Amino acid sequence: MRIVVTGGAGFIGSNFVRSTLAQRPDVQVTVLDALTYAANPANLSGLADAYPGRFRLVEGSITDARLVDELVAGADLVVHFAAESHNDNSLTNPLAFITTNVTGTAVLLEAATTHGAHFHHISTDEVFGDLPLESTEKFTPSTPYNPSSPYSASKAASDHLVRAWVRSKGLDATISNCSNNYGPRQHPEKFIPRQITGLIEGHKPRVYGAGLNVRDWIHVDDHNAAVWTVIDKGETGKTYLIGADGEKTNLEVVTALLGIFGHPDNWFVHVTDRPGHDRRYAIDASSMRALGWRPVYTDFAAGLKATVDWYTQHPQWWESARHDAETRYRDTEKELGGNR
Ligand code: NAD
Ligand code: TYD
Repeated sequence: MRIVVTGGAGFIGSNFVRSTLAQRPDVQVTVLDALTYAANPANLSGLADAYPGRFRLVEGSITDARLVDELVAGADLVVHFAAESHNDNSLTNPLAFITTNVTGTAVLLEAATTHGAHFHHISTDEVFGDLPLESTEKFTPSTPYNPSSPYSASKAASDHLVRAWVRSKGLDATISNCSNNYGPRQHPEKFIPRQITGLIEGHKPRVYGAGLNVRDWIHVDDHNAAVWTVIDKGETGKTYLIGADGEKTNLEVVTALLGIFGHPDNWFVHVTDRPGHDRRYAIDASSMRALGWRPVYTDFAAGLKATVDWYTQHPQWWESARHDAETRYRDTEKELGGNR
């Protein structure tokens, strides 16, 4: 099977490529990645030598129709991870999100339709907006779309495009919407790696607002195993919600990290809340469980400790990315005010 993985140099995509090459000897992988600030070429280093003839990286944008057409022409399957992915950046630079997440997805859909490749679209639970803090309600595939940020609105738009191409242009596609991922190789602009790398450097965690917002954490390897389950067993045109019943408040996550680093529970700072900050995400993953998928990383404390160990052992992977991300947070302070 020949697959094109877009965004394969980023967090989830690179973990997908690594596990796929290790576990599926019949798969040949071409990564198409623009190598934006969010990518880390180290994520893929060594793979061409470790898997001769089975891996290549093509540097380019999913908005480049000619390049996309050429790559998809030789593929059986496209797994589409590439995106601008950080909510905070979408508040200050929304147009990049529309270009990549909306236009780029449309370019890929055209190529997959032309060449008859199966298309799997990686999306997020953030397309549904948020849930009240005080409820046990969860997102299901029939929850109405109600995105809050330019990021989640652009992902919602991309989901709609996939469905339109399935219905009107005969594309063979599946969609998955996953909750918040954690694990190795996540960019240090994101919540968990920002706090881990800050703690390693001796800084207090930075908690937006009161810290009571809830995220439904899933380990990146569980997400990627679920993606393969959908590709192998999912129904064309159907949407699958991926989550591992991992709801935690941001304060609970910070408290767990402070424990790992041996600091008291109150060794953090409250900073200015994100405008439009979604309160709670929670996934009903029964459509995935019906396909036989089960998460493996069910012990969040153990998964978090392993993630801390990975960042502790790989400072060269994150140091300059952290520096750049913190500079962007300082720039956002100048643009939007507050302290971040
Ligand atoms: P990431 O920011 O770590 O990686 C994104 C990758 O896409 C980078 O390698 C970047 O260089 C590449 N890219 C960006 N613009 C591109 C373009 N125009 N052409 C080609 N490549 C481009 O993101 P991530 O956290 O790995 O997320 C991957 C996907 O999963 C995204 O679609 C995101 O919406 C979705 N998702 C993420 C989470 C999460 O918790 N991180 C949860 C659910 C869904
Ligand atoms: P993030 O990793 O940006 O993911 P998302 O916005 O897609 O959920 O943030 C996760 C949660 O952590 C979210 O509620 C915002 C919060 N947060 C902080 O409290 N401090 C931070 O420094 C960051 C980056 C996020």
